[in-house]
Amino acid sequence: MKRRGLWGTRFGFYLAAIGSAFGLGNLWRFPYVALEKGGGAFVLLYVMLAICVGLPLLIGELMLGKLSRRSVIEACGSLVSDSRAYVWVARFVVFLCVFVLSYYALISGWVLHFLMQFIFGHLSAGGYDAEASLRVLRDNGWLQIALTTAHLLITVVIVAKGVQEGMEKWVSNAMPVFVLLLVILVTKSLSLPTSAEALRFLFYPDFTKLDAFTPLYALGHVFFTLSVGFGTMVTFGSYLNEQTHIPSAGFRVTTMDTLISLFAGLLIFPLLIGSSSQTMGPELLFRALPKLLAGLDSGFLFGLAFFICLYLAALGASIGLLESLVANVLDFAGLGRTQAAWLTGLAASLLAIFPALSTSVFSRWQIDGRGLLEILDGVLINGMLPIAALGLSYAVSSRLLRDRVEAEFVNDDSIATRKLYSHWLFAIRWLVPGVIVTSLLLAAWGLLRR
Ligand code: PHE
Repeated sequence: MKRRGLWGTRFGFYLAAIGSAFGLGNLWRFPYVALEKGGGAFVLLYVMLAICVGLPLLIGELMLGKLSRRSVIEACGSLVSDSRAYVWVARFVVFLCVFVLSYYALISGWVLHFLMQFIFGHLSAGGYDAEASLRVLRDNGWLQIALTTAHLLITVVIVAKGVQEGMEKWVSNAMPVFVLLLVILVTKSLSLPTSAEALRFLFYPDFTKLDAFTPLYALGHVFFTLSVGFGTMVTFGSYLNEQTHIPSAGFRVTTMDTLISLFAGLLIFPLLIGSSSQTMGPELLFRALPKLLAGLDSGFLFGLAFFICLYLAALGASIGLLESLVANVLDFAGLGRTQAAWLTGLAASLLAIFPALSTSVFSRWQIDGRGLLEILDGVLINGMLPIAALGLSYAVSSRLLRDRVEAEFVNDDSIATRKLYSHWLFAIRWLVPGVIVTSLLLAAWGLLRR
């Protein structure tokens, strides 16, 4: 067996897990889904589901990884009773992961584009024109493919270096910069006159805005933003050192990610509310923001910091996605890490071709006014991801694992940790599947009633 890399420090694990959890999901997807689904009520549901459904599953995935020291396919094959069925669940999870990486890399490519346009626009005499930059991107599918490939290249090079050399080192350097930029940006954003209205929109729940699809949207987003249901956390768990207490680690990652998400909301909503752009959907962030940035004093520095921040977040998450794919390949194929990283990166860049051409070659492929990219986002995150999470919730609560999981929870034989274990078991066996199935049924009912 190949020697498995471990996190060099406990801090390294947190940085990597949070770096992977925090990404475009918080900054790019959260605003457009929250806006589409009505603000406060959606945000409340999202926070509740993150704690009651996302957290137990995150703990379960980390357990599966730590106990097996394998990635999701092999872990399900070796640890879980009735393993054949679960190996199929795990294969589905990995399949989903490749698709998500491809479209994730595409959006990361967009970020690269805006970052470059922003810089060059300000350096040139003509100034920066956000609408023109967006048009160039929309009309030019091949440019999108090139940007996606460039982003995947950067990701592959970092992942090929290994857990400690590549990932841990990279995130430990980028995270502090990132947090600093975020704090500056939020302070700036909250000083805008629109901030009171933004706070109301974000935190005042208007339940009349809920519909049959809201629970599934909130659930899908929780899984996406916490990187749960992709097997990524199984891989991260497999690099944990023996002493780490998983429930506490899971709790910290969940609270950090949710807090950062709300923080990102505080940064973005004051800007969005000030925007006259009514367009919804994946382009929202890229449409609304630059226009406003142009109107701010020191808008260039503000914008530059924002796009760098966004790109660092996208890169951290892409590294997490690719790392978990590579780890699965390494578990069963006789390839080296570098080869595995290049191979999976190549697969993702080929898959990205379709969504990359969604606004040009395939622009006529639309359902309900939604383009290919939006449909893909909906099907992957609101449809397939909850189903993958459902399968994983059964896998991690399987009979064979239960004793070992209990031992991980109850580390000091105290009543508190025993209680924690029984709560977790209840959540993972009943609450998580119950909420997922109910949300899926509600959405199916909503579709039928249309
Ligand atoms: N959680 C990341 C985000 O919010 C996306 C991601 C999913 C990263 C799965 C790794 C694995 O952007």
